[in-house]
Parts: sequence; structure tokens; C-alpha cells
Amino acid sequence: MALQISATNPEHPVLLLELPWDVPLEEWPEEVLVPLPRGISRHVVRYARAGDEVIAVKELAERPALNEYDMLRDLDRLAIPSVDPLAVVTGRTDADGNPLESVLVTRHLGGSMPYRSMFETTMRPATMHRLMDALAVLLVRLHLAGFAWGDCSLSNTLFRRDAGAYAAYLVDAETGELHPQLSNGQREYDLDLARVNISGELLDLEASGALHPSVDAIAFGMEICERYRSLWEELTRTSVYPAGKYHYIERRIRRLNDLGFDVAEMQIEHANNGDTVTFVPKVVDAGHHQRQLLRLTGLDTEENQARRLLNDLESWMATQDDYAPGDPLGARPEVLAHRWVRDVFRPTVRAVPVELRGSMDPAEIYHELLEHRWYLSERAQHDIPLDAVVEDYIENILPKARETLIPTEPVAE
Ligand SMILES: Nc1ncnc2c1ncn2[C@@H]1O[C@H](COP(=O)(O)OP(=O)(O)OP(=O)(O)O)[C@@H](O)[C@H]1O
Ligand SMILES: [Mg+2]
Repeated sequence: MALQISATNPEHPVLLLELPWDVPLEEWPEEVLVPLPRGISRHVVRYARAGDEVIAVKELAERPALNEYDMLRDLDRLAIPSVDPLAVVTGRTDADGNPLESVLVTRHLGGSMPYRSMFETTMRPATMHRLMDALAVLLVRLHLAGFAWGDCSLSNTLFRRDAGAYAAYLVDAETGELHPQLSNGQREYDLDLARVNISGELLDLEASGALHPSVDAIAFGMEICERYRSLWEELTRTSVYPAGKYHYIERRIRRLNDLGFDVAEMQIEHANNGDTVTFVPKVVDAGHHQRQLLRLTGLDTEENQARRLLNDLESWMATQDDYAPGDPLGARPEVLAHRWVRDVFRPTVRAVPVELRGSMDPAEIYHELLEHRWYLSERAQHDIPLDAVVEDYIENILPKARETLIPTEPVAE
């Protein structure tokens, strides 16, 4: 049997060939290894250097190695935060020709910490709540993508700091299964495993004296379930809103954004009596809105601007008579988007006199107007039409903005 390296990137096999595949992983020499903290695991795992990369090498039987490799590639494709699969090495033999186990190679997740290393510094309970939040978000994202983890635990998760919060990454996909969609039973089963695993891991820490005395291991296990459930509900519930209350929809979108989720598309449907709409949010990756807005309208904006503009575009589309998503006879989204740019976006921006715009570009002005509409609608408890918003904006907001832009008079000498 010959050594075989299957890799995601054609450059990697060359770099990986330098490593001592004829030596059991446990006996790899110091000079190829990188000493970074590792979590606990059944298999032998080591970090090594390959070119400029630090890689994680895990020794396991061929079939599970290939299986986990495929699974991690699927997760990558679904834009789930997980370690990047780089290669599987099979057909290893030692110097005497005896077979050695296959290995799975992943990219070391930079800046990540196994939870045990984080707890060594006796973590404050507030930080632990943030970790549970991150893990709940990860589990929800996996489930939305149809992935049943089968072994959600702290030691199968890596945590990375993320703008003042934490982001959780899946590290061990061996037990995972991908389905078109998960049933409630499958989700509950996965969640129950998570609860039992996490409580068990925390009890372990407690026994070794590494847990903050105020932390209740069992309660924390339950907490992940609660956080998961409320997040799932917020993301997946279908809501019905009365007509003329579009700012309710916006309120819900903003709440999802605050939870760290984006809304990819809305399904606004007019009900039989013509006065209600429903919508379903989806989870998407970063930069999604920017790309989508550019494709639909040719407007090149920042991500946050794009998100607000798309929300507005989609709400507007739903009010159009020929809007029928999925129906070949309905207008194509590009056509509707073009109409929106021509009939809504441009006239609205043009209503703001050029000399009052300062350094704001059209997308920023429109974004500002949407923010102002949101503010006015929330205050009035009903939708305010855009032309009234523009008027109020020019009269009440722009003069104040200009005041702060005018440079202070130089002091006379
Ligand atoms: N790409 C990576 N980046 C950073 N750390 C990693 C990476 N891959 C593995 N690790 C570390 O190695 C540990 C063990 O990995 P993993 O959970 O895949 O092994 P395992 O033997 O399959 O675990 P289990 O006992 O749950 O079956 C992880 O907890 C993590 O700390
Ligand atoms: Mg593991």
C-alpha cells in the first residue's frame, strides 16, 4: 500500500510530504511539532508546521478519517464556523513496513483556545455565559444547515475572541450527520447530548478545583438548552403582521441582527384578506448582502448599508403586483430591483439637496433616511411614508449634522 495524500489544495501535498508519516504520531520529533494547548481527545492529536501553516494532525482509522474529512468540507461549503480540512493521509507504513493509522489534517484555528486552557485562569461566570451563548449560536447554525452533531461538547468546540464576544467553532465532526432538514426530535436529541456532555465536563473541572465556586455545572448545562431554544424560536418562527405595520418587521430584523444573525430573504405574502404578511428569516455569511445588492442593483456599498437597503428593497418588492417569488410568470428580482432603484431609491436621494449632503454618498443618505424612518415610525407607532421622512430629515436632522461639520472659528490673535 502506497502513501496517499488527498488534499483540498494542490499545493498542500508537497508541503505535507516533508512530515515523518512513517513514524507514529505520538513519536513525532520535537522539531516538527508546534507546542500549543490541546483539548482532551481519544485520538492522538498533534500540531505541526507545514510551510507557513500550523496544522493539526489527528490519527484515526481510514474510514472515519475520510468520513470526517468529507463532513468538514460540507460544513465549509455551508459556511459553518468549523476547522478547515486540509488533507487525509492514508496508506502509511513504518520503517519496517507495518501499517500505521491514517491521519486527518486540519488547519490550526489561529487564536483559538480549548476550553480547559481558558478555565485554568479560573474564568468569571460572566465570561462563561458568553461562551454558552457562542456555543448555542453554533449549534443553531449547524441545525439550520441540517447538521446533527451527535457529540456537541466543550472539548469538541474551540472558542475564539470576536469583537468583545466569543465565537465558537466546531472541531470534531466525526459523529456528525448531514440531512436535508432536521426534525424537532433530532434537534432535541442533539441538544440533550450537549447538555449532558457540558454538565459532565464542568463537573470534571469542579472536581479538579478549576471551576469558579459560584458556577453550578448542572445549571450551566441547562442554560445552553434555554439559550438555544430562544435563539431557534427567534430565528425560525413565522410571524404575521398587520398591514401598515412594516416597522414591526423591521423591529424583528433588527433584533436578529443584534443576536448576530442576518436575514437573507423575506417571504412576504399577502394573506387572503389582503392585510397580513408573513416572513421567514435565514442565516447567511458575512458579506452576503453586499454581494446580493451589487448583483441586484449595481449599488456598491458597505455590508451594513447593503443589509438595510436590501431589507427595504425586499419589503417594497412584496408590495408590487407582479411580485411572485418562485413563479416563472412573476417579475424577476433583477427587474423589480431595477424598478426600485429608478422609482424609489434615486428619487428619494435626489430629494435631499446636494449642498446639504456633505460627504455622504447616495447609499449612505438612503441608509440615513431608513434609520430616520425607523425612528419616526417607532415613535409614532405606525409607518411613516418615505416622502414625509425625507422632509423631516431635511428640516430637523441635516441642519444639526451640518453644525457639527462646520469648523470652529479660528480664535483671533
Ligand atoms: N484544527 C485545529 N485547531 C486547533 N485545535 C485543534 C484542531 N484540531 C484538533 N484540535 C485540538 O485537538 C483536540 C482533539 O481533537 P478532536 O476532538 O477532533 O479529537 P477526538 O479524538 O476525535 O475527540 P473525541 O475524544 O471527542 O472523539 C481538540 O479538542 C482541539 O483542542
Ligand atoms: Mg473530540
